[in-house]
Amino acid sequence: MRPRIRSFSSPSCPRPAGSGRMALLLLAALLLAGCGGRKNQDDSLRIGVALYTQDDTFISTVAQNLEWLAQEAEGRTGQKINLFISDGRSSQSTQMDQVDRFLARQCDVLCVNLVDRTAAAVIIDKAEAEGVPLIFFNRQPVAEDIQRWSQIYYVGASAQESGALQGRLVLDAWRQNQEELDRNGDGVLQYAMLEGEPGHQDALLRTEYSVKTLTDAGVEVEKLANDTANWNRAQASARTAQWLEELDGQIEVVFCNNDDMALGAIDALEKQGLDRSLWPLIVGVDATAPALEAVASGQLYGTVLNDGRGQAQAMVDMALALWSGEDPAQAVDLEDGHYVWLPYRMVTRENLDELREN
Ligand code: BGC
Ligand code: CA
Repeated sequence: MRPRIRSFSSPSCPRPAGSGRMALLLLAALLLAGCGGRKNQDDSLRIGVALYTQDDTFISTVAQNLEWLAQEAEGRTGQKINLFISDGRSSQSTQMDQVDRFLARQCDVLCVNLVDRTAAAVIIDKAEAEGVPLIFFNRQPVAEDIQRWSQIYYVGASAQESGALQGRLVLDAWRQNQEELDRNGDGVLQYAMLEGEPGHQDALLRTEYSVKTLTDAGVEVEKLANDTANWNRAQASARTAQWLEELDGQIEVVFCNNDDMALGAIDALEKQGLDRSLWPLIVGVDATAPALEAVASGQLYGTVLNDGRGQAQAMVDMALALWSGEDPAQAVDLEDGHYVWLPYRMVTRENLDELREN
């Protein structure tokens, strides 16, 4: 086993809700400032977690879950776990430096949320040279990269499935209530699409499969507008405001590749002061806490649960297995030796309570 050094550990006492982000920022700041890293050997499991940016709502919930679940696993197994979390601030070169630092600090496992999905090979080569297993998450490297080494894994959820389920939400609404949804009564569904970051597997496949689910079911659709809003609420609000002006009442559905952008679309509609009965149907993906509130209030028709907690749990379980030399397939459902897929789930007002209880 590789020699290990001790550094600051993940907080082991429970913290009040809401302080997670502060703690993450503090950890990142400490890491960047080069604190810790005392040369004492111990037998803690050291996990380096590189986030593409901490400003992303979904990613920050995955990070928070990692913190909680690492603490929980520590309590359950008695294995000390040190979690180091870095914020790539949307810069691949910043993230490369952070990965180098994790390796220099003798991390035992790395969890990497790539800034640029095409940059995986460089990180894989670095980790392989040090013999450190690598778990990518949320931003999927191409299959060729994943095959480069046996100790490379990907934890995520099928982008295609999330698109198909989002399409299903709209298809159900169309079937149940076509009269209301088809505002202009032409039998065609007029839509706008708010897309995530260009090149991201979730943006590409959600855009494609949401609409394909409708057309495969025989619904005729017409795209009135589409644009990227980079997963971002403010950008989505600006795009929607412009469409509302240009397309005056013609949009029947707004498909949003994630919930933050759906909330941005809602912001624009609220600002416009349009009567709620005239709003287009809005759908998102993620099931973030504010999005669930919007589903409860009826502003958001539905969303698709992106299981960030399940993804974090899979990473903690795999890290523990890899650390103790076990086959990770004993700890998680591993497909093709490399992939862990968490299922998505449709969310509407009807099953909201079930979800909030969990
Ligand atoms: C989520 C988005 C998030 C993106 C970041 C997606 O899976 O649905 O909300 O911004 O991942 O990579
Ligand atoms: Ca229509």
